Amino acid sequence: MDGLYIGLMSGTSLDGIDAALVEFSDGNIALKGFLTYPYPQALQQALNQLNEQPQASLKSLCQLEHDVAMQFTQATQALLEQTGTASKTVTAIGSHGQTVFHAPDIPMSLQIGHPAFIAKQTAVTTVADFRIDDLANGGQGAPLAPAFHRTLFAHTERLAVINIGGIANISYLSPSDTLGFDTGPGNGLMDDICRQHFGCDYDANGQLAAQTEPDNRLLAQLLTDDYFAQPAPKTTGKDYFNQAWLNRQLTSFSSEQPTPKALLSTLNQLTVETLIQGLKTLPEPPTEVLICGGGAENQTLLNRLQHSLRYPVKTTADYGIHPHAMEAMMCAWLAQQRLLNRPIPLASITGAKRDSILGGIWHA
Ligand SMILES: Nc1ncnc2c1ncn2[C@@H]1O[C@H](COP(=O)(O)OP(=O)(O)O)[C@@H](O)[C@H]1O
Ligand SMILES: [Mg+2]
Repeated sequence: MDGLYIGLMSGTSLDGIDAALVEFSDGNIALKGFLTYPYPQALQQALNQLNEQPQASLKSLCQLEHDVAMQFTQATQALLEQTGTASKTVTAIGSHGQTVFHAPDIPMSLQIGHPAFIAKQTAVTTVADFRIDDLANGGQGAPLAPAFHRTLFAHTERLAVINIGGIANISYLSPSDTLGFDTGPGNGLMDDICRQHFGCDYDANGQLAAQTEPDNRLLAQLLTDDYFAQPAPKTTGKDYFNQAWLNRQLTSFSSEQPTPKALLSTLNQLTVETLIQGLKTLPEPPTEVLICGGGAENQTLLNRLQHSLRYPVKTTADYGIHPHAMEAMMCAWLAQQRLLNRPIPLASITGAKRDSILGGIWHA
């Protein structure tokens, strides 16, 4: 099923919808265009509130389901326009939707932005709901990325791919293993501090964090959270690592409260430390680490990570893959795999009974 596909993804950062135009041909995967379509502020706030406190009336949830779909449609239209692509030349859209609740213990996972609207309004077949089949087969429904990383980097020896979004996760690929799990906070808590204290959405290039040393005592306290020591498979989200979590930690922190800059620097180091802890649990040390996600732009984080690791830390850009586009490209790939009725090899990662064909198809 070669051809053009569009992948749509928005993660826990709620910065906007990543849209990637991807061409599959003879086993090659080429990125033809990419953009991030920012969420309007009111919608971003509503989604953020729902992420941090998962409670809503059915009416407001339905409204969000519809409004998010409209944004995903608009992101698609912007991408088609930017790349001069006619919608009829696109085989399918793969839309992740916006996760508002992920609860493998129920087990359920809810992504909103209903694909029926995206399909009808773009006139492109839309594949979506990629997590539920794995959950129904007893898995965590996450992470999905390791299977795609395996496809992209089939040739590498022992590779760790680290995605730093609102939450951070690691994929590990070796001849004998494909593993993946969330390590904990990525940029999410840092973004919150930037909005609260510095009047910006994120710490551009990690410049603010670089100005102050981390508060090691606070860092030690943050690291006592049970999540970090839990073995994989494990997933987490902003329903857990959020401002309420941070406020609880700060309230019980008996030493002097950190300045906003020291707090930001400490949270940056928390992401670094928990990634290093995660890397240490891998069956063997990787020969190389590739970073993707918006956190690939945080130079302070990358420098600190490299400082602590013996193996080279690069971004996926070194392999010609735009770090911001990785997850949207994965959604395009998942759409293609769904049309081909191929199970996605994830059971060993998510803990599912067997590999599942992921997603449902909504026709234009
Ligand atoms: N130039 C930059 N410098 C530092 N951080 C950045 C930069 N650009 C983006 N980011 C970070 O990346 C985040 C978005 O990353 P993304 O991979 O889209 O995460 P998610 O999947 O959670 O939406 C932003 O919220 C911000 O923290
Ligand atoms: Mg994002």
